[in-house]
Amino acid sequence: FGRKAVFLASTLSTQGDVLKLAEQGQAEGAVVIAEEQTGGRGRFGRQWFSPPGKGIWMSVLLRPDLPLQHTPQLTLLTGVAVCRAVRACSGADAGIKWPNDVLIDGRKVCGILLESTVEDHEVRYCIAGIGVDVNFDPEDYPEDLTTIATSLKMETGQSVDRTKLTAAILTELEQLYFLYQKEGFGVISALWEALSVSMNREITVTNPHGVIEGKAIGLDPSGALVVEKRDGEHTLIISGEISWKS
Ligand code: BTN
Repeated sequence: FGRKAVFLASTLSTQGDVLKLAEQGQAEGAVVIAEEQTGGRGRFGRQWFSPPGKGIWMSVLLRPDLPLQHTPQLTLLTGVAVCRAVRACSGADAGIKWPNDVLIDGRKVCGILLESTVEDHEVRYCIAGIGVDVNFDPEDYPEDLTTIATSLKMETGQSVDRTKLTAAILTELEQLYFLYQKEGFGVISALWEALSVSMNREITVTNPHGVIEGKAIGLDPSGALVVEKRDGEHTLIISGEISWKS
């Protein structure tokens, strides 16, 4: 991955730039990396704070041969790749909050946005957008983010080389993606469960279908989160957001 890489000083969102490459027929593994995004996007239509010089804002083109209902597996895979790279490059004890936020000590250092283009119920391509708060200082954050976000520098006390971390993320992503294509989701699922900080916790899930409370007990073979409700019944969660009391 990253053999075709486009570097931009400033862009609206690297998701849109990779979408253009995809439409032009670019091969998978193509990457767009920007110093700054003026319209960075997060999950659920939120904005993603992407100022210049201190973060990694990048999007990767994937062309998996997958039925649409398996795309959550790729979301989880990307989280595992980023979490492993962050741990290796910074030494931080990073974990994954379902589905794919990377947290250190309960605060978010990385967000992932996986967007798929579908035609006739088949996935044509996926764009994995990855945002990492690498060398932010506390004063770089707007007030609404101070309690929920953190950076690798703030957590480890040391600046992290963005180029090395970017390369490590792409290498992890490529290796896990090929492993996944060869062996299936089982290996990825086990890696995800081992890195997850959501497992065996009493959580609250919020999604358009409502609110569910119970204990997160693992992933099912499709990549859905299995939640055991108080009455013992198991529910599968494929999208939404979770929270827990610390
Ligand atoms: C989230 O809500 O947690 C996902 C955030 C994803 C941010 C990345 S930064 C690179 C790519 N371009 C975007 O506009 N968003 C993703």
